[in-house]
Amino acid sequence: MGRAMPLPDELQPDNLVITDPGTPTDRNLAMELVRVTEGAAMSAARWMGRDDKEAADLAAVESMRRSLSYVDMSGVVKIGEGEKDKAPMLYIGEQVGNGNPPQMDVAVDPIDGTRLVARGLPGGIATVALADRDSLLQTHCFYMDKLVVGPRARGTIDLSLSVAENLHRVAEAERRHVEDLTVVVLDRPRHEGLLAEIRAVGARVMLITDGDVAAGVMAALPERTGIDVLMGTGGATEAVLTACAVRCIDGDMQCRLAPRNEAELALVRAEGFDPGHVFQAQELAGGHNLFFAATGITDGEMLGGVRFAGQQVETHSVVMRSFSGTIRWIDAVHDLTKLRARASGA
Ligand code: FBP
Repeated sequence: MGRAMPLPDELQPDNLVITDPGTPTDRNLAMELVRVTEGAAMSAARWMGRDDKEAADLAAVESMRRSLSYVDMSGVVKIGEGEKDKAPMLYIGEQVGNGNPPQMDVAVDPIDGTRLVARGLPGGIATVALADRDSLLQTHCFYMDKLVVGPRARGTIDLSLSVAENLHRVAEAERRHVEDLTVVVLDRPRHEGLLAEIRAVGARVMLITDGDVAAGVMAALPERTGIDVLMGTGGATEAVLTACAVRCIDGDMQCRLAPRNEAELALVRAEGFDPGHVFQAQELAGGHNLFFAATGITDGEMLGGVRFAGQQVETHSVVMRSFSGTIRWIDAVHDLTKLRARASGA
């Protein structure tokens, strides 16, 4: 029998490759992050459809914070549950991880789609991302205007141009008719004008009630998902998380801060931002080492939700790393008896 040929270096699984010595980590932290999002999703899933957003969020936050403390890094929450005085856990500036190198920025959304989970509707996910220290955007502005596309349309979008121009550019890059594009948009009254513009061009629309991180990731993966573009205004935290995934996928994303009132506009200026500035994906999530993980809580288009079956729990996740570009879709079966025994020290 012939000896198995060793894989060339460039084909080694990315968590084994020793990366560029100039980068701060040669480990795929996303593999550790997926345990964080799985735990948060399982905890939140217990609250599915029980009409208690706060309890669902608290369960996910507590779980995420606990499991982040085991991740081998010195992390600081750059964008997350809010300010320290308003959010007791995973607040902006909170130190997470076990304190070892590397030093990382952390973006967290223990539940993206809290309403979805509380009402038992599809699309709620638990998500977290990491980047080299000081490379995630930090803002207290609540909303951002967003435009997300996949790798083939990279470099063609421009948020300062019209909706029609952007859709035509994406269609050309995708070698498709504009009528064949599917644009995902949050179903909000503020998007009436945007929807009219998309419909005037003739593109198809998928409206979602919540959860624009999953929608943005889907738009960056058009071949897998059938969604080509995300457009519209959503949360700034969600924008940073989406940017981490988009950069791992090599898609494209642009955003602009969207202050809700004069006070927020003043805040944006005080933060040193030009309110008209169009942020590129690299400005939202910079550096060379980006890691993204998400786990479905309720069944969604992108990820299946948590299923409980006796002592077993099934989860569905996606993890990504920018350095290698590896995207892993991970289905896990968790043994509750063993997890409980471990938690109680038995
Ligand atoms: P939460 O689960 O954190 O509440 O976010 C859900 C969400 O739909 C996000 O995905 C989106 O970015 C944001 O809310 C949109 O905000 P709004 O509901 O105010 O339009």
